[in-house]
Amino acid sequence: MKAQANGLEGVIAAHTALSDVQGEAGQLVIAGASVEALGSFEETVARLWRAAGLSVDELPRRLGAARVAMAAQLDPRALASENGMEALRACVAQLSETDELDTAIRLVAASSVATAAWYCRQRGATMSAPDPGASHAADLLRLMLGDSDARRAAALDRYLVTVIDHGMNASTFTARVVASTGSDAVSAVVAAIGALKGPLHGGAPGPVLDMLDAIAAPQNAVSWIEQELAAGRRIMGMGHRIYRTRDPRAAVLERAIVELGGDERRLRLAKAVESAARGVLREKYPDRGLDTNVEFYTAVLLDAIGIDRRAFSPIFACGRTAGWVAHVAEQRRTGKLIRPQSVYVGRSVE
Ligand code: COA
Repeated sequence: MKAQANGLEGVIAAHTALSDVQGEAGQLVIAGASVEALGSFEETVARLWRAAGLSVDELPRRLGAARVAMAAQLDPRALASENGMEALRACVAQLSETDELDTAIRLVAASSVATAAWYCRQRGATMSAPDPGASHAADLLRLMLGDSDARRAAALDRYLVTVIDHGMNASTFTARVVASTGSDAVSAVVAAIGALKGPLHGGAPGPVLDMLDAIAAPQNAVSWIEQELAAGRRIMGMGHRIYRTRDPRAAVLERAIVELGGDERRLRLAKAVESAARGVLREKYPDRGLDTNVEFYTAVLLDAIGIDRRAFSPIFACGRTAGWVAHVAEQRRTGKLIRPQSVYVGRSVE
């Protein structure tokens, strides 16, 4: 048997109609549409689920009703952890599978309602009741922050859409492995939340904000970055396993920040830091194609919306849950168990 590289880099684990990450070209296609051209969260969920074989009518109404039902059944004990991903994992784990589509809808509703309820609890606020007639993003924003601003809701909607799915990333692969055993979608999503909780997957936006705070002014950017690299540290929000050019999601989120308006000085600082990081990294690693990834502008956008960095990973999960359940449905239809092999490097039989 031929040994594969550690980390399964370059190994194909599935054929999917859900998303295509083109690393050299810097393009992302979600079920036939480029990431720049996607519609609202509800439209994109429906697009993704149809591609996965989940026929879905009246999604906004059903998702709204599911948010209301989830808020009514939240168990306060599951929200107790100070870590949002632990709270999310505990809340989602309390669900049971019904039919495939109903479970998918309840999982998407549950991740958002649980995130909002946990966030309110952390801030000592009382979460209001979900509005089943609101868009998913607008309702999530109002539940989290008590904020009904349409521009911030549109920005949050763009964020949820932009991170909805992304090829065979670690949490999606995890969800597919669980689904491939014939287990239920709730278990698959709980496992995926566990994978997303790790700092190597989706954990960079908080440190990106720390970096912006530390640099403080555009003229400090180049020297700060050079010092970080000289100290052997990585620049957060830069580099990607697949993209060899700028992550296309960075451009979508940057546009969303501009459309949101707000703190122009912060955006100017972010752009100066990005440009300094790209320049310094290009000089240091001319052949590696290290460039801006999605997490750089995720940090700036979520911060501009008014969401605290503690909630960045759970809110990523709110968007990505729709992708996970699509992959679960698609994997189930293959009927194939995912079961790789390992190379034994232990002691020989004595
Ligand atoms: N800053 C500085 N150097 C970086 C870097 C970064 N952000 N990303 C990669 N490199 C360097 C590595 O140090 C390594 O150099 P070396 O061979 O001299 O040790 C080289 O580029 C290749 O890195 P590697 O770890 O093999 O790349 P990967 O594909 O496994 O890692 C990431 C991809 C995303 C983990 C990596 O780019 C990273 O740590 N980025 C910062 C964290 C981040 O933004 N994560 C969010 C990703 S969406």
